[in-house]
Parts: sequence; structure tokens; C-alpha cells
Amino acid sequence: MALRKKLESWVAPRNAASMRWRDVLFGGGVFDVSGDHPNKKGWEIFELGQKSFWAVPSAIPWDEPIRENPEYAEHIAAMLTFLCPGEKAAVTGASYISNLVRSEEAKFYFAEQALEEAKHYDALRRVIPKITGRPLEAPNVWVRFLYSFGVVDRDDVAFMMGNINIIGEQIANQIFHRINHRAVDPNLRKLLALIGKDESRHIGAGQRFFGEVFDQFEKNRRKIIAKNLATSIVLAFATYDLVKPMDALDVDLIEIMDSMYKHYHDVTSGLPAFPEQAILEKIVAHLRKQTPKTIARIRKATDESGRIDPQKLVAMCEEALKSPRMLRDVLENLPFLARAA
Ligand SMILES: [Fe+2]
Ligand SMILES: [Fe+2]
Repeated sequence: MALRKKLESWVAPRNAASMRWRDVLFGGGVFDVSGDHPNKKGWEIFELGQKSFWAVPSAIPWDEPIRENPEYAEHIAAMLTFLCPGEKAAVTGASYISNLVRSEEAKFYFAEQALEEAKHYDALRRVIPKITGRPLEAPNVWVRFLYSFGVVDRDDVAFMMGNINIIGEQIANQIFHRINHRAVDPNLRKLLALIGKDESRHIGAGQRFFGEVFDQFEKNRRKIIAKNLATSIVLAFATYDLVKPMDALDVDLIEIMDSMYKHYHDVTSGLPAFPEQAILEKIVAHLRKQTPKTIARIRKATDESGRIDPQKLVAMCEEALKSPRMLRDVLENLPFLARAA
């Protein structure tokens, strides 16, 4: 209870953005003109975004070629090709979040983030063919699953904010950072640095705004945790083809996932504990340990045309939340479950 109080005082969300009949008839909501921003840190990050604004058309001289080290060029392009559709999905996700939050701070910030994700998508869509000399490849079925079912649920703001700002951005930013470490072309490096700077701010925003959707998180937590577990499995499928580029670029997915789990823990550890907390911690500990084996097992059990039914996958993961024993069964029988899904 004390923690809950602390959380409420931390965010103190104020409705300055809803557009209901009540707001039309009596004022308030979107018609609030007080300019009060109790989530001071949230408002500051919205202002910081404006100060850091950059434009894709003038970010680099687009008529100049990109000259990347031939040893790494294809690997860099493969990683960016993996991240690119996620940027576009994040435009949709951040726009939905902006529609669903009630404070002026959050609504304005997420509208800003949606525009920044659009810039990231546009920048990557332009730069990848300049590295490879080929048109941008369309994402495969696993990547499409990851960036739809794993990112967007227009009825679940807490799920979207958690998966975009706490989990997704953290993973993507670490990948951008490692690619930039290997890249040599100054224009590509400049572009990646601009995107990376935005992503760091988006990660910070997750910490500043998650409290505003805490009620929804509390209400949907079972479903959200199950969907996160399912998304981890889809992520393993989606990144399997990237094993070679990741090795070449020193991108250690296990290390990245580990740092993401730590970040997730940092953001959520200030929140009140749930009855499922012990099971959630077991899930995380197990995933950290088993991810490499799991990736191999999942891949073995499916063929190229295999399909996942998202609903079945989530139902399966929900079952696993009922007891550590069932969870162990689910994780140890992934090949069978993947085939059945
Ligand atoms: Fe982005
Ligand atoms: Fe982002």
C-alpha cells in the first residue's frame, strides 16, 4: 500500500486530454488550459525531444554513396533490415498510446515519439539500399509477428508502453549501438547516432510515463505477462536468421536480453508486487538461462511454412503462469508446442 501511494505521488496523472461528452458540456479534459504538468519529468522529456529535433532530408547528404567496410556491410544491412519494420510499427504503437493516455504530458510526448519513429523508419528505408545496392527486403513471417502481435494492441495501453518503451527500445538501442561501433562510413554513423539518441530518450520516457498506465497494467497483468512471454518466443524465431550478422557485429543477443531483463526489473521493481511475482521472476530467470537452447529447439521443430497462432500461444503462456511446474513443462516442451501452435 505504501508503495502504491509512492507510485501515485510519483506520477500524479492529471486528465488534461480526454474528449468525452462531459468535457464538451462542462469543460476540462482536452479543454483544460491550465498548463499544469504534475508529471514534471514527463513534460521535460517532451521539451527535450523538441530541442533535439533533426530532419531526415537534411541529416546527411543523401546524394553521396555510403561506403561501408565490405567485411561488415551485408551484416550491418541485415540488422538494420530487421529493425526497420519495427520503427514503422512503433509509429502505430506510439500513436495509439497518445490516444489512450489522459495527461497532457503523456499525450504530447507520445505524439512526438510517433513522429520520431516515422523519421527512423524513413531514414533506415533510405539508407539500407545505399549499403547493399539492392531494394529493401520485405520482412519475413516471424518479424511480421514480432512487430504486430508483439508491439500493438490498441486496447491495451500498458502492454504497448511496456513492450515499446521498456522492452523493444532497450533491445533496439543496444543493437544500434553495436552496429555503430562496427560501421565506418561517417554518414551512416551520423544517422545511427541521431536515431540512437532519440531511442535513449524513448527508453527514459518509459520510466517517466509507465506509472500513468499502472492501473491498466494491474488490471491486465496476467495477459500482459503471458503476451510478453509469448513475444520472447517469437523474438527467438524472428532473430534466428540473424545469428551470423550478430556474431560478425559482436551483437550478443543473450547479453542484450539480459540487460533488457535488468532494465525491466529496474522500471517495475518500484511497483507493488503481484501474486504472480514469484512465477514471473522464475520465468525471467529461466528465460535468461535457457534462451540459447530454446532458440535452437524452436528452430528445429518448425519448417519454413510453419505458422504461429497468437491466441493459442498466449493461452499456452497464460496456463504456464498458474504454476512453476506448468511453466517448466511449457518451456521444456517448446518444440512440441511450437509444432502444435
Ligand atoms: Fe525508433
Ligand atoms: Fe523509439
